[in-house]
Amino acid sequence: MFRLRWQTAGESHGPGLTALVDGIPAGLEIDFGVLAMEMARRQRGHGRGGRMKIETDAVRITAGVRYGRTTGGPVALWIENRDYENWQPVTHPEPLGAAERPSRQRLRPRPGHADLVGLVKFGHDDVRDVLERASARETAARVGVGALAKQLLAQFDVAIMSHVVALGGVTANAPTDVDHFAAEWLQALEMSPVRCLDAGAAIAMIAAIDAAKESGDTLGGVFEVRARGLPIGLGSYTQWNRKLDGRLAQALMSIPAIKGVEIGEGFASAHAPGSAVHDALFVDGSGSNAVLTRLRRRSNRAGGLEGGVTNGEELVARAAMKPIATLRRPVASVDLATGEAVRATAERSDVCAVPAAAVVGEAMTAITLADALLDKLGGDSMQESLAAWRRYRESLSRAFGAAEP
Ligand SMILES: Cc1cc2nc3c(=O)[nH]c(=O)nc-3n(C[C@H](O)[C@H](O)[C@H](O)COP(=O)(O)O)c2cc1C
Repeated sequence: MFRLRWQTAGESHGPGLTALVDGIPAGLEIDFGVLAMEMARRQRGHGRGGRMKIETDAVRITAGVRYGRTTGGPVALWIENRDYENWQPVTHPEPLGAAERPSRQRLRPRPGHADLVGLVKFGHDDVRDVLERASARETAARVGVGALAKQLLAQFDVAIMSHVVALGGVTANAPTDVDHFAAEWLQALEMSPVRCLDAGAAIAMIAAIDAAKESGDTLGGVFEVRARGLPIGLGSYTQWNRKLDGRLAQALMSIPAIKGVEIGEGFASAHAPGSAVHDALFVDGSGSNAVLTRLRRRSNRAGGLEGGVTNGEELVARAAMKPIATLRRPVASVDLATGEAVRATAERSDVCAVPAAAVVGEAMTAITLADALLDKLGGDSMQESLAAWRRYRESLSRAFGAAEP
């Protein structure tokens, strides 16, 4: 928003998805293998529908990168929809005569999806004109942009991970005192069909998805995103739209089907006294090093943000995803053409997409943090941004006096 400007275009069954990202400094090396891996991560997860078997999301960079390095120009991404061919002429971009168009117009909105509001708002007479863009297929483009943001953040030793903490009524006994970024945890998560660190809960989650599928129902859940390596000072309390907690909440809430976001202990902290919520400070050991370098906390209930500014702790955000709105046994709806009581449109669909949403959550967090980092550091080239980074880190290591009396 302040340094990175980006948008996406494209329909679910159109020719493909486009993303345009402006503001990435020149000289960022792009690892195309990592880009492909990130795209594949979004496609996984127990409970996805048939679509993910058709697509192998491959990103083509069509602008802003030369010989594997960003030029400073806008970066354009293109992701082809392989399913496009199967949907002709339904999503044909060029004019078609009435006789060539599929005849049935669909006016049976799915409660919980964008169908009704989109039909009314844009004056369409076919729900297809709404759902093609409202579809979460668009999140593939976000993950492409997020993969660039992650690679930028990696240059500053900032890493991001996600895991599922609840799904379909099953709550994971998620370990809180582990290093979430330890290689064994990250590997285990990529192997888990539900991106869950609690193997027992994962089995129950998979069973819940299978049962929902069997009964024609859908499930939601909660995922957590963490970011490590952030210095004190990203974001700001000086203006409402610069507060990083607010910006992260918007970024995560904008993911389709996300209906709640909390930072740190968020909702639980509303039910506890201040003495049990705020993360007390102490100085670790003695010595002549500046106080700031030895400042510690025994808890991180604030989730790494105070006053809308990173406080040097791990950033922790959680997002609640509602169940998918397209059910194989559709909920009651109304045929808008006749007023008749009907069942909502049934579209090939996921039963549960919480693990995939977690990967999208990583992308949205990465983009927001990369923007905040570049806003802090400035720089047209990576060289300039990294030099500013080193200067800032050095200034932090000298900030405030020694703890010795
Ligand atoms: C990764 C992912 C996959 C999704 N897959 C589906 C799906 O297959 N079918 C569906 O109806 N909704 C799916 N959704 C949710 C809808 O896109 C979302 O509910 C819809 O756009 C309406 O927006 P809202 O729920 O934010 O109000 C998915 C969401 C995400 C994040």
